[in-house]
Amino acid sequence: MENTKKLRATGEIEAARQTSSIGLIIRQKEPNNLETPFSQVDSFLTPTELFYIRSHFLSPRLDLASYQLHIDGAVRNPFCLSYQELRDMPSETRVAILECAGNSRVFLVPQVEGVQWELGAVGNAEWTGVPLAALLERAGLEKGAREIVLEGADQGTPKEKPIPPGTISYARSLLRDKAIQREVLIVYQMNGCDLPLDHGYPVRAIVPGHYGMASVKWLTRIHAVREPFQGYWQTSDYAYWDYPDGTPVRRALGEVKLKSEIARPGVYETLEPNQLYTVSGAAWAGETEVAEIAVSTDGGQTWAEAEFLDSVQRHTWRRWKFNWVTPEKAGQYTLLARAKDAEGGVQPDKHDQNYGSYVINHPLPIEVFVAPERAENPDRLGRSGEIRHRPASR
Ligand code: MTE
Repeated sequence: MENTKKLRATGEIEAARQTSSIGLIIRQKEPNNLETPFSQVDSFLTPTELFYIRSHFLSPRLDLASYQLHIDGAVRNPFCLSYQELRDMPSETRVAILECAGNSRVFLVPQVEGVQWELGAVGNAEWTGVPLAALLERAGLEKGAREIVLEGADQGTPKEKPIPPGTISYARSLLRDKAIQREVLIVYQMNGCDLPLDHGYPVRAIVPGHYGMASVKWLTRIHAVREPFQGYWQTSDYAYWDYPDGTPVRRALGEVKLKSEIARPGVYETLEPNQLYTVSGAAWAGETEVAEIAVSTDGGQTWAEAEFLDSVQRHTWRRWKFNWVTPEKAGQYTLLARAKDAEGGVQPDKHDQNYGSYVINHPLPIEVFVAPERAENPDRLGRSGEIRHRPASR
């Protein structure tokens, strides 16, 4: 793809493969739930080593020699593929973001249950694999097939209430119309290397434009169904309340909502007064394009336009920056970033309660401190000898 050629030319892929000395933030030790330190990431592609991990159960270790991907259900010619057979099929490479639907949950007040993600349950990577559409074509998808269920090899008992009895495997379905788009990939490579175990080795789905829960890892079965899939992660978890006729109906989460996050400065960072500081971040959307970013440094009273660092590429993020001359007056300041999409949509002012502990896409307040001018610079301060205290951090 054009997109990828450009990246290779600029060495982005090589950078994404480099080992990192920054590390991930532990949110849960077992199973692995690890967050990207968002303030540290400044490349277009998130290095694999820094890419967040969200797993409901322990990572299953699948043996390449015996690996089989089953394609069955409402299809005319069900079949199985070995790992090598999948790799021998024509492949495509795409860059796409993955954002966990619970990203930024820690910003919700009052606090809600679930992994307390800050800003880093999101990343942008290059994925290589076979379009799901090619597998469905080969299987002869029946006209009556409404959804495609993707099933992983990981199993266990979920922790989110209501807890179903016994052991279940991780599974999510896609509506037929989305599943047959060529952008949906059955992938075996991330940032130019084989998938790491925690990211779904040897094979996972990548569903660009949808929240991360749709991109099933350790994929072993693709099952076409004629009736809406009622699985646990479809109707209970990763679902929200909709009110079509005033009556609440449970619907599956899908498309990623427009969002912008501030990477730098970090929460409660102390900045020097009256200095040029480059505020930076990234913005993304599901099926629309991010067109504008506004930044506020006074808690939302006034807004100014930020500048993009990346051009528009569907399903990827756009990094942005904003040059801020920090105030002379010491104190606490609240920074916000708000994205607008190409259709005129803007991020909502506050979290929509119908999404429960998911879809946290309102502008997230980043509180910072501006330190008093240093006493050793009496000329700029206009007075000297005054003892001032830096605001306490955290
Ligand atoms: N697939 C399986 N089989 N099991 C899981 O627990 N977690 C989902 C999705 N696919 C999950 C899964 C969720 S909620 C997210 S956000 C993404 O994987 C995270 O992908 P990553 O760990 O590669 O970042």
